[in-house]
This record gives sequence, structure tokens and C-alpha cells, in this order.
Amino acid sequence: MEIIAKNSAVEAAKFVARYIAKKVTSKKPINIGFATGRTMDAVYYHLCELSKEESLDFTGVRVFLLDEYIGLTPDNANLFRRYLDLHLIGKHNFKKDNIYVPDVFAADLDQAAREYEAAIREAGGLDLVLLGIGKNGHIAFNEPGSAADSRTRVVGLTTSTRDANRNAFLPNEAPLTALTIGIGTIMEAGECLLLATGESKAEIILKLANGDINSQVPATALKLHRNFQLVLDSDASKLI
Ligand code: GLP
Repeated sequence: MEIIAKNSAVEAAKFVARYIAKKVTSKKPINIGFATGRTMDAVYYHLCELSKEESLDFTGVRVFLLDEYIGLTPDNANLFRRYLDLHLIGKHNFKKDNIYVPDVFAADLDQAAREYEAAIREAGGLDLVLLGIGKNGHIAFNEPGSAADSRTRVVGLTTSTRDANRNAFLPNEAPLTALTIGIGTIMEAGECLLLATGESKAEIILKLANGDINSQVPATALKLHRNFQLVLDSDASKLI
């Protein structure tokens, strides 16, 4: 694990955006797993700025959405697919056929999960996974207790995770389940880059950076990854 500590959230996001931009131009095709969440807003903003300055070409990038809510209607603005459309996919020249999302509207969700895992494998696996982290240590939607070898599957969401995102939903609308790529799926990626910013992430970053590998803090599995970078701002890194 390599820790990259930046002085501010903007600097941390710019670092990650620059890192992705370099990947986009250096290898084609490249398969990237993209996270959603508030932490990523600044990354995708700065990626747009870089793209404007440098005319980045995204036609060789295959986009894999890491996770998605189950139970929302296709027009719900809280779908992660909608987030990614707004912040990333709609902003660059991706090819339509290069966008991969788990089919949370399928009649058989377990089958949809298996198909998504197979799609990742058939594309040659993920070259890079961009991750955020939940306050309880979840990555994608791998909640505490997720096995190190877990694959793409349907999962229940914890109260902590539902509470963190509840404001975005109408009363009683916050989903109970989601479809997520597994810890095992993430661990097979060529590189993992986790960005955490803000004081609210300081405690979980302390557990990740200084604690043992423990399935109750799913992100700690990444410490066994051969190419894992943890990018932090000064608030998220203040306890380590
Ligand atoms: C979300 C997503 C994760 C994300 C995490 C942190 O629910 N499933 O992929 O990394 O929780 O989100 P935020 O950046 O909003 O704190």
C-alpha cells in the first residue's frame, strides 16, 4: 500500500484526475472501474478540465460501474448510472459499446450478477479500479463481513450506508439492496486507487492504514493488493 497525502481535497482530486488522464492516454483499450459518490465529484470535474486542455481521447476506455442500487425506477436520479452519465460518460467521447453497468432491472438478479462478472472477465479484467470508501469501510457496496474472495452479487445495505445517503432519497425510498462487484473482483484488478477526503473519513482511514486486515473493515483487503494507492487529503489523513 502506498499512501499519497495531499494538503487539500482539491489537490487530492487533481492528483487522481491526472492519474486517470495518464492511463487514458497510455494504454488502449483500458478497462477502468469507476466509483460514484460525493468524493468523486471533484475527480470527475478535474478530469473534464484536463480533457478540455488536452483533448483527451476516451474512445479506448471501457467504463465499468462498480455498483448500483436495486429497486429504483430507471428514471430515478439517484441511480449510480445516472451519476456516472452526468459526471463522466456524458462529458467525454466514450464509445457507447464501452459502457458496462450491472443490470439491476433484470428479472433474475443473481444471473445479472454472474453476467456482469463474466463481462469483466471477457473484457480482460479491470486494469484500474477507482474507489471511494464508506464510513464503515465499505468499498463499492462490499459491506462489513464481505469475504475477501467475494464476487459480483446482490448485497444488503447496512443502516450506516443507508443513513449516509438517505438525504438524497424521498422518505422510505432509500434502497435496501444493491448489486456490487466483489472484493475478489476488485483484488484481481491491475491497480486499485482509493480516494478519501474530509474529516468524516479520518477514523476509517486510521483503521485502514494502521489496522490489521479484517473483513469487518472491507477496504483492509486492499492491503494485500500488489498495486494499491491510497490518496488522502489532510483531513482524512489527520489521525494516521
Ligand atoms: C457509496 C458507494 C461507494 C462510495 C462510498 C462513499 O455508497 N457505493 O462506491 O465509494 O459510498 O461515498 P462518498 O464519496 O459519498 O462518501
